[in-house]
Amino acid sequence: MTQASSPAASRIIIRDATDADLATVRDIYNDAVVNTTAIWNERVVDLADRIAWAEARRKLGYPVLVAEVEGVVAGYASFGDFRAFEGYRHTAEHSIYVGSAFRRRGLAEKLLAALEIRAIGCGKHVLVGGIEAGNHGSIALHTKAGYVEVGRMPEVGRKFDRWLDLVFMQKILPATITV
Ligand SMILES: CC(C)(COP(=O)(O)OP(=O)(O)OC[C@H]1O[C@@H](n2cnc3c(N)ncnc32)[C@H](O)[C@@H]1OP(=O)(O)O)[C@@H](O)C(=O)NCCC(=O)NCCS
Repeated sequence: MTQASSPAASRIIIRDATDADLATVRDIYNDAVVNTTAIWNERVVDLADRIAWAEARRKLGYPVLVAEVEGVVAGYASFGDFRAFEGYRHTAEHSIYVGSAFRRRGLAEKLLAALEIRAIGCGKHVLVGGIEAGNHGSIALHTKAGYVEVGRMPEVGRKFDRWLDLVFMQKILPATITV
């Protein structure tokens, strides 16, 4: 007897993004721009914008990772410099986006774990997430992954005609990870 495969049993691959993935990355990004307060922009971007963004990350030696489910790009994650002063060089700020059709299958958890390994490889000591205070899913994701709230800034953002509070969550990374 064969068992029906659940979504959780789907084949998930976490890998570096190629330029061929960036149209889907753009679509996931634009969906978050239009429908969420995860990104505090109101303008959608084109493919050239995402190509330039990925190229800038790669030039710094930073990864752009994608999660692929059964051959379909379903989410992505990356990190960049936290602040542009050399004293912050061991700290990075990350972002994770999962397409709405692929959520709650553990993709963000896997992307974040992979990102942490890459961050350690880049010599990073701390990862920081800047999260809109009402984004309970992202706060739960980061809490589960061992991030702690270290700051809360009321009304520093505005989108959809309302003020947004920013929560910073951080994790001090181990020097090495045993797999
Ligand atoms: C937040 C986001 C990245 C989570 O991605 P995901 O792949 O659905 O998350 P996972 O399935 O890996 O969830 C891992 C854990 O995070 C928590 N979590 C994730 N989404 C949640 C939600 N909507 N509500 C409550 N908890 C949630 C749960 O603890 C979950 O573990 P569990 O399923 O065993 O309970 C996704 O909802 C998303 O892309 N949202 C829009 C963009 C965004 O907010 N990005 C983060 C910017 S800071």
